[in-house]
This record gives sequence, structure tokens and C-alpha cells, in this order.
Amino acid sequence: PTERFTELFKSHEAAATFYQRVFALTDEGTAGREYAEERGFTPEQLHHFQIGFAPAGWENLSIFLGKKDFKESDMVQAGLLAERDQSEGVYDRFRSRLMFPIWDGQGKVVGFSGRLVGEGKPKYLNSPETPIFHKNKLLYGLHLARPAIRKSNTAVLFEGAADVVAAWGAGVDNGVATLGTAFTDEHAKLLRRNAENVVVCYDSDQAGQSAAFRSTSVLEQAGCVVSIAHMPDGLDPDDYIRKFGAERFQTDVIGATQTVMAFKMRYLRLEKNLRNEGERMVYIEEVLQELAKLPRAVERDHYLRQLADEFSLSLDVLKQEQYRLYREKK
Ligand code: CTP
Ligand code: MN
Ligand code: MN
Ligand code: MN
Ligand code: MN
Repeated sequence: PTERFTELFKSHEAAATFYQRVFALTDEGTAGREYAEERGFTPEQLHHFQIGFAPAGWENLSIFLGKKDFKESDMVQAGLLAERDQSEGVYDRFRSRLMFPIWDGQGKVVGFSGRLVGEGKPKYLNSPETPIFHKNKLLYGLHLARPAIRKSNTAVLFEGAADVVAAWGAGVDNGVATLGTAFTDEHAKLLRRNAENVVVCYDSDQAGQSAAFRSTSVLEQAGCVVSIAHMPDGLDPDDYIRKFGAERFQTDVIGATQTVMAFKMRYLRLEKNLRNEGERMVYIEEVLQELAKLPRAVERDHYLRQLADEFSLSLDVLKQEQYRLYREKK
């Protein structure tokens, strides 16, 4: 099996080179170059993340790999080519896409994430699971970010590769991302081996915020100290940086994180109308439930006061109620 893996590694290396050359040097790469420029990717970003372009057409990569004597069956197993449904033969899996190579922990290319350029679906296409590519054990950008993560004892967790690239361009070089899959316990352990602190910086739309809610508890269970970076108006990090610039991203987003509890309080009220008395009661109860999980009395007290102030409630009553919930947990 080791030899088959060698073919998988070698073909990914060859494909990454192919996509980069198409991007940088060919007429077929024009669409990719224009798109990258539109997105504001600089030459430094393109180079650091080895971004390339998969041209339109069904057999550009397959012909290239064929000339290099890679076997079709191996390339299908690698996820670079796919078998035709109706007839014999294979075709390129990635077409008309900006290509982000995905590396393993040692920096070997083990897969790709391709962002569609132009109309169509899906917007992002990733390599399938293969013997060398396991999405739920791998974080995009980890081998590049590892020195910065270790040095700062902090990793920043983003939703996608494009956000990692944008953040790096804005001077945040300790960023990693999952690849369109749920954040798993294995992801958390991988981060914890490299840093104690994790800043969760997901998209500020509803999908991103509920994903952040889930990731946060997975991270805490793995022993990470978590804080949450927040952006306004449904923006994602890449949008934010393009709109407000690197400096504000550093100071107002990465440098202005919330505690997990403050994030949960904001999250729990997202879909509620707090002018409505019933919904207000539900919200208060939910917050008390979350507060009861906090180990430190000082912290519990801090948020109880906040709650009491906001809703003009008696701090004593809140304390009694919260204490009851706290005892129930024990
Ligand atoms: N993603 C993925 N597969 C999908 C959808 C998303 O791998 N089917 C990953 C991509 O890495 C993407 C990230 O999840 O960057 C976040 O998805 P989303 O926020 O929907 O991407 P957008 O920010 O909308 O993408 P873009 O900025 O490129 O328009
Ligand atoms: Mn989207
Ligand atoms: Mn998103
Ligand atoms: Mn996004
Ligand atoms: Mn985006």
C-alpha cells in the first residue's frame, strides 16, 4: 500500500504544479487571473498559498498526467479524475476553478479545494476522501501557520480557505480552516497540540454563528481556551477585510474578541424578540442555564449583573434561580 500512496502524493504534487502553471502562464488561465485580481489576492498571497487554476474543459489534467505515466485508476483513486458514467474513460474533476492546494501536517499536497469561476454549482468543490485525504482530521493551512500558532500560543479558526488567505494578507498569519465540514473532536485535538488559545472567527451570518456555537463547545471539551471574533452585517472575514481593510480587521475583529459566555448571550437572542415577554423569559432562562455551566463564581456574577441590569430584574432572585440550576448540574 505504501507504493500506491506514493503515486497519490506524486500526482497531487504534479497537479498542483499544473494548476499553478496554467494560472500564471497560459491563455486558459486568464479567467483565473482575472478572478483572483477581482478578489484582491496579491502575488504574495497567490505564491504563499500556491493558488492555481483548473482550466475549462474535460481532459486538460488527464492528458497532462497521462504524459507523466500516471495510471488512470490511480488518478481516479486520488480524486483528481473521475470515471465517465455513460462511456469508457475519465475526465477532470476540477474545471474552471481557482485551486487551493490542501496540505497535510508535513506540507505534502493531499487534496484540493476548488472555487468555481463563473456561473454554476457547486461554488466549492473539494477532493473526495482518499487514503491520504481525511477532511475531518485535517485543517487547511496548518503547516504554514504552525510557527505563528506556536509562537503566539493562539490559533484563529476560520470557515474556509479563502478566509485564511485573506487574513494572512491582512497580517493574521496564525489562521486555519475546516473545509466545509463540521468541526470535529479530532480537529480540536489537533489545534490543542499546537496552542492553548483558539479564536473562532466564523462568518457572521446565521449559518456561521450556529457553526461557531457548536465548534466552541467541541474546542472547550478538548481543553482549549476559546474566544470569539465577531464581524457585523453577515460579513465573513474576507468580505470584512476587503471592505474595512487590514488594520481594522486586526484591531476591531481579531483584537476585540468576546468571551464564550458573551457570545452565547448574543447568539441566544439572535432569533428572539426580547420585547415579547414570553420570549424574554425564555432568553433569561437559557442564559441562566448557560451560566450554571461556568466554573468560576466571579464570572457567573459578572453576567448575572449584566442580565439584572438589562432586564431590570432583582439580582437576588436571579442569583437564587441560577444557584438552583447550578446545584442541579452537580
Ligand atoms: N465550503 C466547502 N464546501 C462547500 C461550501 C463551503 O468546502 N460546499 C467551505 C469553503 O472552503 C468555503 C467555506 O466553506 O470557503 C465557507 O463557505 P461560504 O461561507 O459559503 O463561502 P463564501 O464565503 O460564500 O465563498 P466565497 O467568498 O468564495 O464566495
Ligand atoms: Mn456563502
Ligand atoms: Mn459561510
Ligand atoms: Mn464565507
Ligand atoms: Mn467569502
